[in-house]
Amino acid sequence: MPQTDSLVAPRVPGTLFTPAFDRFFRTHERVMWNFSSIPFEKIDLSLITEDDINALRAAMLVESHNPVYTRVLLDYFRMDHEMAAFVVTWSYEEMKHYGVLRTYLEATGLVDLVDLERELNETRAGPWGDIESQFTVAQSFSYTMLQEELTGLFYQKFARRTKEPVLRNILTLVGKDEFRHCQWYLYKAKQVLSRNRHAREEVEDLLLRFEMPGPSFIQEYGKHGYAMLKVAPPDANSFRQVMARVGELTGRTHWGKLATDPIYVRKLREEWGMEPREVLSLP
Ligand SMILES: [Fe+2]
Ligand SMILES: [Fe+2]
Repeated sequence: MPQTDSLVAPRVPGTLFTPAFDRFFRTHERVMWNFSSIPFEKIDLSLITEDDINALRAAMLVESHNPVYTRVLLDYFRMDHEMAAFVVTWSYEEMKHYGVLRTYLEATGLVDLVDLERELNETRAGPWGDIESQFTVAQSFSYTMLQEELTGLFYQKFARRTKEPVLRNILTLVGKDEFRHCQWYLYKAKQVLSRNRHAREEVEDLLLRFEMPGPSFIQEYGKHGYAMLKVAPPDANSFRQVMARVGELTGRTHWGKLATDPIYVRKLREEWGMEPREVLSLP
C-alpha cells in the first residue's frame, strides 16, 4: 500500500475520532446483529441444495482471510486514528461473516470437517495484497468500495435464491454489512478525490481496468469462483447498481465517459453477455 498525504481530519469535540467515523460507529452499534440470535438448530436440511453448500463454502473461504488483511491495514493506518478505528470495527464485522458462515456450514453436517479444516489452513496461509499493494490511496479506496458493493450484491442475490430460511436470514444480514462497508469506502475515496487533483485520473484508470480477481489465497479458486457465480450470476441490474455507485464517486460527466468507454463496452458484450445499450442507460 502506498504512502501519501495524511487524510487525518480535524478533531470535532463530542464525536468519536471524526464526525464520519462517529456516524459509522453509531450505525454499526444500532444495526449490528447478534451471532447468538441465529437459530442454527432450526436449519431445514430438506431445503438446502448442493449449490447452496458450494457457494457458502466459497464465500466462507474468502471471508476467512480476515486476519491477514487486517494486519496489513492496521500496520499501514496506525497513525490515522479514524481509519485505524474503522479497520478494527470492519474487521470485527468481517470476522462475524466468516464465523457465521462456517458455523452454518458445519451445523448442516453436509461437509467433511477434516477436509474443511485443511482447506481453511491453506487459505489462511495464502498471500494477500499482490494487487492492492500497487495502488495509490485513491485507487485503494475505490477498489475496495467496488469489492464491497459486489460482495453485497452477491449475498443479496444468494439470499433471494436459497430456499432455506436460516441461510437466507444470514446472507441478508451479511449483505447489509457489506453495503455499509461500501458506503464508508465511497466516503474515503471522495475525500481523497476532493483533496488531490491527480486522484481522479488514478481512479478512472482503476475503474477501467477493474476486475474482480480470483483471490490468490484460495486454492482451487476456479472451482469456488464458479460456485459463487452459479448462485449469483451477474446481470444487467447488478451492473447498473455498480455503475450508479461509480457515478456517485466520479460524478455524472465522468460516469458517462466510463460507461461509453470501448473497453467497458467490449467487456460487457464478450465477457458478460450484456447488450451495452440496455445496461448503460443512465441510472
Ligand atoms: Fe464480509
Ligand atoms: Fe465487507
